[in-house]
Amino acid sequence: MSVMYLRGGVPLEGELAVHGAKNSVLPILAACLLARGPVKLTNCPRLTDVTVALGILRRLGCQAWQEGSTIWVDPSGAAGSAISEDQMRSMRSSIIFLGPLLARTGEAHLTYPGGCELGPRPIDLHLAAIRAMGCEVTEDRGIHCQGRPRGGEVQLALPSVGATENAMLCAVGGTGTTTIVNAAREPEIGDLQSFLNGLGASVRGAGSSTITVEGGRPLSGGEFHIMGDRIVAATLLSAGAAAGGRVRLRGVDWRHLATVLSVFHQAGCRVESRLEYVELERDRWVPLRGAPTIRTAPYPGFPTDAQAPVMAALAASQGCTLFVETMFDSRYRHVPELIRMGADITTEGRVALVRGVERLHGARVEASDLRGGGALAAAALGAEGTTVLSGLHHIDRGYEGLEEMLQRLGANVERREA
Ligand code: EPZ
Repeated sequence: MSVMYLRGGVPLEGELAVHGAKNSVLPILAACLLARGPVKLTNCPRLTDVTVALGILRRLGCQAWQEGSTIWVDPSGAAGSAISEDQMRSMRSSIIFLGPLLARTGEAHLTYPGGCELGPRPIDLHLAAIRAMGCEVTEDRGIHCQGRPRGGEVQLALPSVGATENAMLCAVGGTGTTTIVNAAREPEIGDLQSFLNGLGASVRGAGSSTITVEGGRPLSGGEFHIMGDRIVAATLLSAGAAAGGRVRLRGVDWRHLATVLSVFHQAGCRVESRLEYVELERDRWVPLRGAPTIRTAPYPGFPTDAQAPVMAALAASQGCTLFVETMFDSRYRHVPELIRMGADITTEGRVALVRGVERLHGARVEASDLRGGGALAAAALGAEGTTVLSGLHHIDRGYEGLEEMLQRLGANVERREA
């Protein structure tokens, strides 16, 4: 097991291109099941979750492999209709394979993805969407779906990202016209729509609350470039805010993290948003200010995935910041670790009050979820002394070489075997 040693007190200075988005490449890999020809994906991140998704595609009969940031999928041999329990448990978002699998084979058999570090992760909206397209869903020691999806109206009770994506993929592979109402508006859904339409699908409305799919169109193979990861960008900017200095990031659309940039601007950072890059600068001798209440919400609200990294940066600031986590039950598991570093944070249910302290100090801390791990790394770079961060398997799910990225920004970080 490896651990990360992070030495605080060194302002960051540098520029890098943000790698491809985990939450875009995962649904797009599932969508490859709908293609009738080979697919080539570029700007793909090298992450453990991507490795799991490639394993699922291979288990279903596809050829799928990654070389560097390029992935090739040849779905011509796909024949399976079941995803094993160990694969479902190793990555909760495997549920995204349900829709395309059902549309391709007329049946799909999966186990429950199970909860994760963020608390229960229900899939009722996914199953309701499948039912709304005329397919039979039974839940008997797992999830069993039968039937060929046909057009329908999918009313999502919540703008769920995964349920929106599952409904899109099921509808693209089915027949008739499907309307998805109260769809999630995250940018990754726009990427999925662009990918599908590039293969010959007819999907409209991604980014709005209503998405319309004309099914029954055969999908060819093709090539696609995955968008940059806005949450990785938010994490690196949080590290810059915590340590001070100047961080410039390319390959991500600043509009996709406008709420995060606004918080750091209000906390006293200089933020520059250009088409080609986004930049954050903070004088290390001028402390951050507390920010107005941060309430997580579906896009275009403040992203729940950026809550932990931004909190980590604001833990050392002048003033208080109130956080309200509206999306998940258990998304404050980084708080006790930040407190071990000297933070003054009180949580009550979904509310966290951060009373800024002058400076955090190094400590032995452990990541217990993906973005909480990124947050602890960001906090460590602004802290006094050295932090030893374990639980790196969580971080490796969503950050490709976090220590290398931080090193390229001038941080004193290294990963060693414990
Ligand atoms: C996606 O998860 C992301 N994962 C998450 O990122 C992200 O935190 C989340 O969207 C919210 O933005 C991927 O894209 C792979 P949801 P997803 O369905 O689709 C409830 C990360 O760090 N809900 O939008 O699972 C659910 O409990 C990960 O990269 C139901 O009630 O999220 C939650 O409260 C973590 N029933 C809310 O909706 C359902 O059937 C939003 O969840 C589905 C969801």
